[in-house]
Amino acid sequence: MLRKPILLFMLMVSASSAFSQAVSPAQQKKMDAFINNLMSKMTLDEKIGQLNQVSVGFDVTGPIVSKNVNENIEKGNVGAVLNTYTPDAVRKLQQIAVEHTRLKIPLLFGYDVIHGHKTIFPIPLGLASSWDLDMIKQTATIAAQEASADGINWVFSPMVDIARDPRWGRIAEGSGEDTWLGSQIAKAMVQGYQGDTYLNNDKVMACVKHFALYGAVEAGRDYNTVDMSERRMFQDYLPPYKAAVDAGAGSVMSSFNEINGVPASGNKWLMTDLLRKKWGFNGFVVTDYTAINEMIMHGMGETTYDVAKVALDAGIDMDMVGEAFLDNLKQLVKDGKVQPSQIDIACRRVLEAKYKLGLFADPYRYCNDERAQKTIMKPEFLEAATEAAKRSIVLLKNSNNTLPLKTTGSIALIGPLADDHRDMIGPWSGAGDWQKSVSVLEGIKKLAGNQVQINYAKGANITNDDWMIKRLGADQLNNDARPANEMIDEAVNAAKKSDIIVAVVGESYGMSGEAASRSEIGIPSAQEDLLKALKATGKPMVIILMNGRPLTLKWENDNADAMLETWFAGTEAGNAIADVLFGEYNPSAKITATFPQDVGQIPLYYSHKNTGRPYQGDFTDRYKSRYLDISNDPLYPFGFGLSYTTFTYGDVKLSSNTIKPGQLLQISTTVTNTGKYDGTEIVQLYTRQMVGSVTRPVEELKNFKKIFLKAGESQVVNFTISSADLRFYDINMKYTYEPGDFKVFVGTNSRDVKEANFKLTN
Ligand code: BGC
Repeated sequence: MLRKPILLFMLMVSASSAFSQAVSPAQQKKMDAFINNLMSKMTLDEKIGQLNQVSVGFDVTGPIVSKNVNENIEKGNVGAVLNTYTPDAVRKLQQIAVEHTRLKIPLLFGYDVIHGHKTIFPIPLGLASSWDLDMIKQTATIAAQEASADGINWVFSPMVDIARDPRWGRIAEGSGEDTWLGSQIAKAMVQGYQGDTYLNNDKVMACVKHFALYGAVEAGRDYNTVDMSERRMFQDYLPPYKAAVDAGAGSVMSSFNEINGVPASGNKWLMTDLLRKKWGFNGFVVTDYTAINEMIMHGMGETTYDVAKVALDAGIDMDMVGEAFLDNLKQLVKDGKVQPSQIDIACRRVLEAKYKLGLFADPYRYCNDERAQKTIMKPEFLEAATEAAKRSIVLLKNSNNTLPLKTTGSIALIGPLADDHRDMIGPWSGAGDWQKSVSVLEGIKKLAGNQVQINYAKGANITNDDWMIKRLGADQLNNDARPANEMIDEAVNAAKKSDIIVAVVGESYGMSGEAASRSEIGIPSAQEDLLKALKATGKPMVIILMNGRPLTLKWENDNADAMLETWFAGTEAGNAIADVLFGEYNPSAKITATFPQDVGQIPLYYSHKNTGRPYQGDFTDRYKSRYLDISNDPLYPFGFGLSYTTFTYGDVKLSSNTIKPGQLLQISTTVTNTGKYDGTEIVQLYTRQMVGSVTRPVEELKNFKKIFLKAGESQVVNFTISSADLRFYDINMKYTYEPGDFKVFVGTNSRDVKEANFKLTN
């Protein structure tokens, strides 16, 4: 391993090795002295260089790739890099910065580590379905261990955008529709990545994204406009970002979208008034990929000169890839349009991040080949990935106890995703080694291959739609050249000679994630044709879904005997799915984004308002808030997920019918496992404020408990809430509670609940 002791430069003050996240006054003083000293030596050009992030070129997500990276680093024009990793690749670039530039300032290395680095966990929407905050934190801890061993010190995660429109492909990257749960997950992930301290170089700096409201793009079309009331913003969309900031996230990424007429990357209210002044964020803000330049298209200026000023004025510190800062800030200073002090502020924030990560003391502290080899994809991590995948799989349907399968007889394992490796690690798995992922076929063979006859057939391509194939690229889809009917016939023959069909269908990994909006969110028609042909055999059919968003699954729900939502479950997907199929693991996950019956219902989310004419099921009652052609119900409500066992809920008992501000209300219910299997249940607590100074949602998640019950066992589950939990943005946008009547609901999902009433008095 090459690890040169480096003498940065003759500084009066030396850099400490790394930062403990709770900054003591002494540490702060030392850091300030170090950075003051360094900045006193920096030219304006060198300061501007720190605000520039370049992409080394692979896996880029935008149209522009940085050119002349090495030369630019050497000139001091680069503060951070993205899209490279491995100790060797990082060391080479870091060496240029710390050995060949005048001030030898180390680089930050950022990467999209979204659901694991090399060991890939389920996509975030899948992880969220586990409602397992400790486990989610652990996945981020492991991702940090692998990434930091692989040269990376900064991850572009967590993505905490609340999303209520499954047409938006990026719903896959976040934790779904709920503000409260999203906030808990945001915090857990920041803690997992960053830990309490960067002292042991196995942590990375988190970057909360995409600030802000990116999940609310109009019509679910990526990069589109967001126009939202202040109330909805503060009530529903902003809290997860705030939770991540409060958890100490070191950086924030601005989003692509505009917010009420001003793009996030040029939005001073957002970046300065809210983020810095109101929330007290003291890390640095990087834009999303070329987002400053894109403000020209938004109509915020004609040239990069114009928009660089808009971004800096708004409070952006670092320009990802677009080089608008690099090309224009000096001139803007010369022209008196930007103050040198503004550049100083941004530069200081970037240098502080480097200091905290310990990069000044040892720029190579994340570059250790031996550590990388020992750490990456080690057995414990793969075990954690299997566990995370199992806990993320949602049982959507299970008629007549079709599942779990018996380890006897024969199975027709059919579908384009049944022996797939690439798709199952999902979108945003850039460093993931898909060849190492376990397919469903491999998982089933490993678990039951000796006892069960497996008749495998691909049966269909993921899609045969030319339009879609052109957009996704034929390589990505790996389509079979055989005619569709030939593939279907082969599958039907396999089904006919088997006891049961297990059909693995869904999306390719590229059908969700960035720039992957869909207007129809069903199973692509090539696969639907296959499913219909399989159904016609009359054999029982289990559908295993792989996808990155809630899908419309009406036909599947009506026709499958059992259905498992496995998302894109990561490196160990096949092993986890086999465990669930054969009952080695009893599924417990619950969806965190509503599955609509039809796209026309979108946006559809559980915490909606009541309207003045709520539809209550009587379709002859015409003048109600409803459709003529479909009910208002989702196919699967938020929080829904079955188990191989059954749970019953007793009445909701309250410690009192009234509470005063500050008092605790105890809520309890008895949950009983009434089925044959041991199982885990996610017990959910919701409330409703009946009357308010502004209208309130019909339900809001307030808490949950994940409990394990042996078959036949009962447990009293207790919750407490107080006036603090009942706060909201009132008519004056004050975050407060209002006395009055409330309902409390406890249940197995947001629809199937038991309720009780209480009053909050003055
Ligand atoms: C995405 C970000 C990502 C960035 C860097 C952008 O296109 O929106 O989520 O972090 O690229 O890869």
